[in-house]
Amino acid sequence: MSVLSTLLKAEGHEVVPVLGAEKAQEVIKSQKFDLMISDIRMSPVDGMQLLRMIRKEKPDTAAIMITAYGSVETAVEAMKEGAFDYVTKPFKVDELLITVTRALEYRDAMAENVTLKAQLESKYQFENIIAESPAMRKVCEMIERVAPTDTTVLILGESGTGKELVAKALHAHSRRKTKCFLPINCAAMPEPLLESEMFGHMKGAFTGATANKEGLFETASGGTIFLDEIGAMPLSIQSKLLRVLQEKEVRRVGGNENIPVDVRVLAATNDRLEALIEEGTFREDLFYRLSVIPIEIKPLRERPEDILPLVYHTMRQEVGPNKDLPNIDPEAQLVLEQYPWPGNVRELENAIRHALTFAKDGKVTKDVLPAKIVSSVSSEGAVSVNTGGLKADAYRGKSLKAFLKSKEKEYLSQVLQYVEGDKEKAAKALKISLATLYRKLPEPNE
Ligand SMILES: Nc1ncnc2c1ncn2[C@@H]1O[C@H](COP(=O)(O)OP(=O)(O)OP(=O)(O)O)[C@@H](O)[C@H]1O
Ligand SMILES: [Mg+2]
Repeated sequence: MSVLSTLLKAEGHEVVPVLGAEKAQEVIKSQKFDLMISDIRMSPVDGMQLLRMIRKEKPDTAAIMITAYGSVETAVEAMKEGAFDYVTKPFKVDELLITVTRALEYRDAMAENVTLKAQLESKYQFENIIAESPAMRKVCEMIERVAPTDTTVLILGESGTGKELVAKALHAHSRRKTKCFLPINCAAMPEPLLESEMFGHMKGAFTGATANKEGLFETASGGTIFLDEIGAMPLSIQSKLLRVLQEKEVRRVGGNENIPVDVRVLAATNDRLEALIEEGTFREDLFYRLSVIPIEIKPLRERPEDILPLVYHTMRQEVGPNKDLPNIDPEAQLVLEQYPWPGNVRELENAIRHALTFAKDGKVTKDVLPAKIVSSVSSEGAVSVNTGGLKADAYRGKSLKAFLKSKEKEYLSQVLQYVEGDKEKAAKALKISLATLYRKLPEPNE
């Protein structure tokens, strides 16, 4: 411990060394700390208890836990309990110091008011990310907070929600912005190729390895690596990645030299990693390492405020600056707002491109939208009602309750159609229980 405190002092930190968790608890109660570094195995009070106490009573204090070699479960446990990170004994000085720096950066970024004020003043910084909805604003706020740190970020979201866009924004607002941003799609390559792409290989390591080759981690040094579709990463590569994250070194395939790398890792997935962990195809310890900061992007159907701004944003991109944008007539607008966008923003962009191709006289009407979209938004429903009831006055004479019920039925059947009849998925999307969904479903003969 004295070695550690000497080291940290040499780095300019103020250090208060204490012996044992009981003493630590006393000291923590009486003073304010940015960071606690603690062994897990101690008696009579162990490090986990200390960690729980600090998370509860001093949530602003980050914690790094020291675990014995090979005790992965305890390490995972510590991350679950809110430790920022763990280091394994015996640890390398550099590794610990980097972890300390990251933990302190993270603490600063998470401390309230740090960036909020600046943010309020400087209106909107992420001009290429449309964020009208509160959910998307929160995403941008998170980007602003965590971009300057070196912390790993796990970006979660359905296909087409903007995961790569968020990853790029994180890079663009970091100190690494002048260095490269390297995306790797983990689902696109067979295992051996992915391994040698990521970590490089030595000449003769396998058939076809005719020369030494540096891996993307080396190439990206100083920059950011974006591991897309991380859920598809094979287990053997997951354990290698974990080592790279821990030790900040790579070893090429067939090589015996450790090469230091300075790379920030961002990862994205549209899989539920928890389910993959249960299945045994994703490492739990890697999950906790990657998801120190998770950023979840909600599907577009759950943030309808973003739809029209995205429509105009896409039109502007397609039409170019300083040109008049086409008008969207109210019927077409309603279709765009009501469609559930299973392919999210990517699908919306394609629909708008389609519409612009067929638009006549600078006007986007329902007829120029993709037929699939128009037909899935019911024609007897809100579309005609909302355009002033000019067409079918289908609901005249109905009580409000009956109207709402028929709208509900219509929406249920749209959602069910879109999830291909999977009731569990539908219930989840609708945020109701499965039992409620069944109750609401029409009887077969209804
Ligand atoms: N909030 C947004 N504002 C502006 N454009 C957006 C937004 N969200 C997504 N986009 C655009 O939508 C398209 C899809 O985004 P992106 O490729 O980042 O999605 P993704 O989540 O990585 O999708 P996939 O899972 O299919 O790889 C891109 O052209 C992106 O620029
Ligand atoms: Mg993507």
